[in-house]
Amino acid sequence: MLSVVPTPVTVRVPSKVNLHLAVGDLRPDGYHDLHTVFQALSLYDEVSVVPAEQLAVHVRGTGADVVPTDSTNLAWRAAELMAERAARRPDVAITIDKGIPVAGGMAGGSADAAATLVALDALWGLGATRDDLAELAAELGSDVPFCLHGGTAIGTGRGEKLVPVLTRGTFHWVLALSKGGLSTPVVFRELDRLRAEGRPQRVGDADAVLSALGSGDAHELAPLLGNDLQAAALSLDPTLRRTLRAGIEAGALAGIVSGSGPTCAFLVEDQHAAVTVSAELAGAGVCRTVRVASGPVPGARVVTDTDPA
Ligand code: C5P
Repeated sequence: MLSVVPTPVTVRVPSKVNLHLAVGDLRPDGYHDLHTVFQALSLYDEVSVVPAEQLAVHVRGTGADVVPTDSTNLAWRAAELMAERAARRPDVAITIDKGIPVAGGMAGGSADAAATLVALDALWGLGATRDDLAELAAELGSDVPFCLHGGTAIGTGRGEKLVPVLTRGTFHWVLALSKGGLSTPVVFRELDRLRAEGRPQRVGDADAVLSALGSGDAHELAPLLGNDLQAAALSLDPTLRRTLRAGIEAGALAGIVSGSGPTCAFLVEDQHAAVTVSAELAGAGVCRTVRVASGPVPGARVVTDTDPA
């Protein structure tokens, strides 16, 4: 008897850095109002889905051992939500290849959820619109809509309401990945604590950031990068100060903690600078590993042919 091996659908999904992250006060629902500028970076996860007896999640790559493979994984929840909307069983096996640092402040878990939505839409032939997917994405987590969207965008609300931003050219980044991770809710709570003590400064508005993005000039953008969560991440992991200093000493134009950290993102002049800064930073012994990336890049996209001949 011939057995037909099902063809998986594979989706590539980018990571993100917040070029500007203004955190408002704590809301009654436990979230903070944000005003942020996201940029999607070329550090990717790949998520494959294939029909299976029952829902399962497998994770491969660096940090895979600490990623849950049960219903607490956002990709699992994305499959359940998508199946519920399509009125069918979530009978798929999901394989996640991690290229995005785990618990690194680069939206790795959210990226996997966004990729799962896109992959299941293709696998099940649902024909969902990007707006349909964005609505499901917002139910799953604050950063999931951006991982779907990609590019550069302003995020408001919890971060889930997006408006695209016009940018010129490509920006080059060096990322210092940390040995450990930081929990996003813990970092937000630490910011609330620091604010109750009246310490950290707040970033201003994003107008200058948006005009620097429009000019495509990394030198103009560099001094404008800002993240309200940085003080909280540094308070929880003071070694990140050394990492940020080392990036500047290595020749980066500016360095910030990415989102809730602990990944540090360094903006550099061009591709050549990315190579030299990353080599020097890797030698400084201030992080687990160093990666080079560029942005903006598109959001979650199918990379396999879903109609094999
Ligand atoms: O939306 P998501 O599940 O990714 O958020 C994780 C946690 O991060 C929330 O439970 C909350 O503690 C914190 N958060 C927040 N304000 C936001 C986004 C996230 O306080 N705008």
